[in-house]
Amino acid sequence: MRFINRDPRVVTANDSTDKLRAIRDDVVQCIQCELHKTRTNVVVGTGNHDADIMIVGEAPGEEEDKLAMPFVGPAGNVLSELLASIGLKREDIYICNTVKCRPPQNADPTDEQKNECSSYLTRQIEAIQPKVIVCLGNHATKSIMELFGCIDKIQPISKIHGQTFSPDPLFSDTSRRMGEFAMADIKIMPLYHPAAQLHNPLLGPALRSDFKKLKEAIEVAPHKITSVSQPPLFPN
Ligand code: URA
Repeated sequence: MRFINRDPRVVTANDSTDKLRAIRDDVVQCIQCELHKTRTNVVVGTGNHDADIMIVGEAPGEEEDKLAMPFVGPAGNVLSELLASIGLKREDIYICNTVKCRPPQNADPTDEQKNECSSYLTRQIEAIQPKVIVCLGNHATKSIMELFGCIDKIQPISKIHGQTFSPDPLFSDTSRRMGEFAMADIKIMPLYHPAAQLHNPLLGPALRSDFKKLKEAIEVAPHKITSVSQPPLFPN
């Protein structure tokens, strides 16, 4: 079912669910890069289809590839704890990755793999119309900042974690794709990847303090009006 949204802030659950279902159907059949040859499952995304917060990670790992769900391994446990620390559950947010198929041996996704997948990510953002996009780690940060015309602001995550950025409203490609969606209201927040805390527990306090900033960013963001609650799309 589709609705015409006159107020760009109005997101109807049915509308976003329809869009996410179409994206899932496309990703399941995707053979645009070589990762399709080694994947067990595609990992499209899960969570609330009208979420205020969209969390974008890097790429599925071993557990995610098996279960077709993002962040269900050790890094996912850290993420769930961080969300709980600001009173959120996974069901409150939408979680996905820059790349929808697991790179073998959890290698870093290549630029080509990220580029091939970027149209799916753009469509997910357009479907959900979040208030805040959280980019976990360097890969997600680079992909999202590029999509939103903030290329000149890209820096290593150790430098920009916890800061918020606004999209360049004149950045033609993404603004055209996003249509009436109030691009100017969106905030982009790069954070350390939760896996970083597993490798370096000293990053724990920075992650917890950045999640508090995320909570504050949501509280001051323009109110998003939602209408219908959506049925879950399983597995993605
Ligand atoms: N790391 C990611 O970036 N994404 C996942 O889904 C799991 C681990």
